[in-house]
Amino acid sequence: MIALGSDHGGYALKQEVMKHLTERGIEYKDYGCYSEASCDYPEYGKAVAEAVASKECELGILICGTGIGISIAANKVKGVRAALCSDCFSAQATREHNDANILAMGARVVGPGLALKIVDTFLDTPFSNDERHIRRISMIE
Ligand code: RB5
Repeated sequence: MIALGSDHGGYALKQEVMKHLTERGIEYKDYGCYSEASCDYPEYGKAVAEAVASKECELGILICGTGIGISIAANKVKGVRAALCSDCFSAQATREHNDANILAMGARVVGPGLALKIVDTFLDTPFSNDERHIRRISMIE
């Protein structure tokens, strides 16, 4: 189960992500927001972060205008490693090296075509399980 969240700036791109996940047969839960009305990104960053930290969902995807505010908010929750990505290389590396459990994107930064490739890369790349990466992640914790 993938936890999804956005503010108003990420709402439209989140609809594209939901459609894409449905087409791929991947289950998700949308933690809001639920319209393009102006709202506060920390609320949704926290909701998705708590769903991932509690293991209610395996991974999360967060979208705001830049991806910055919502990733900062998510990373306040213990156990969360939210990675802001605007390219597929970073999405792959952050799964392999950081075992990132939340992907953050900026809807005003990446177009929908690239965003869906980033989503696929993030979801399809496993953690490397290399000792050095496990050590570094435990240092963060
Ligand atoms: C909302 O205007 C915007 O500030 C928000 O989506 C995000 O970019 C914050 O980091």
